[in-house]
Amino acid sequence: MMNILGIETSCDDTAAAIVTSEQKIIASVLSSQTSFHAKYGGIVPEIASRKHLELISHVCMEALQSAQLTWNDIAIICVTKGPGLVGSLLVGVEYAKAIALSLQKPIKGIHHLEGHLLSPTLSQSIEYPYLGLIVSGGHTEFVYVTKPGSYELIGSTVDDACGESLDKFGKSIGIPYPAGPMIEKLALDGNENEFSFPLPIVRNRPFDMSFSGLKTAVLLQMKTMSLPELETYKNSLCASFQKALFRHIITTAKRILAVYHSKMVLISGGVSANKTLYHMMEKAVECPVLKPGPGLSTDNAAMIAWAGYCRYTTEGSDTLDFEVQSSLPLASY
Ligand code: KG4
Ligand code: ZN
Repeated sequence: MMNILGIETSCDDTAAAIVTSEQKIIASVLSSQTSFHAKYGGIVPEIASRKHLELISHVCMEALQSAQLTWNDIAIICVTKGPGLVGSLLVGVEYAKAIALSLQKPIKGIHHLEGHLLSPTLSQSIEYPYLGLIVSGGHTEFVYVTKPGSYELIGSTVDDACGESLDKFGKSIGIPYPAGPMIEKLALDGNENEFSFPLPIVRNRPFDMSFSGLKTAVLLQMKTMSLPELETYKNSLCASFQKALFRHIITTAKRILAVYHSKMVLISGGVSANKTLYHMMEKAVECPVLKPGPGLSTDNAAMIAWAGYCRYTTEGSDTLDFEVQSSLPLASY
């Protein structure tokens, strides 16, 4: 059995995890920087990299301690090499390289989205080919997977990501970032049919999605309402807007599935934590739908350790001179 260390610093969370080759997560530590960025209304890259630098060794040590292991028990070091904020990625990658060099252990640089994409395959058996849906704060993408490591990008958002749309709507209705979980909760007590929003269409691109029109539609609806009305209808606005976003994703998924034969649909990324999305997808498609286990939807390092192990077993380790890449297409990496 091997212990795999994963390190993730692509955005504003400093994360380290240890996963075994038998697919058990024995430690997963995450230090969120949300509170440091909150007062600026968004992530400040300079602050993010400084915080990563402060936190990275503590987070890794905490992962080792909670797994009751020492550095010598680690067999492979996996780290997110892109896409993401360059300054943030550099902290994780340089730290991982230093450990790999001093311990003389193999290292693997991993694509953040491959981490998400493979997160539902940790401890769950899968069948190929499958359709992966990555739905997070930065991405909304359909990836067709015919065999391990073979990724074909089928469709994606042409503007905002789904999570980003939830967060922007949340901001306008007074829900703090990241708004997704609170919108999901409020929606449970709302009427999803109270407000109707259009189903977006991306002209001549049936497998792509567009969320910015829905964002405008909900903002226009809110403009027609008084403050007391907004308060009264807050839950229903959440329920109706969330349903409109998910209906768009699911309609697109069905169009893709009609063409791309798939044995399963695997949902991943921060928004995959949403139970309503999962149930809507399960109802709409004929094949089984998998989602990541608890704690594996939003950014974490266990998914990086797992994706790293999968890649390592098929293609071996990387040399120490690989670089961080702020933008990195999944299909060609
Ligand atoms: O994957 P992630 O942690 O970071 C990125 O790589 O973007 O995703 C974060 C996104 C945020 O937009 C957040 O609002 C959304 O995931 N999110 C959710 C839920 N939990 C997180 N959206 C809907 N329902 C949830 N339960
Ligand atoms: Zn992510």
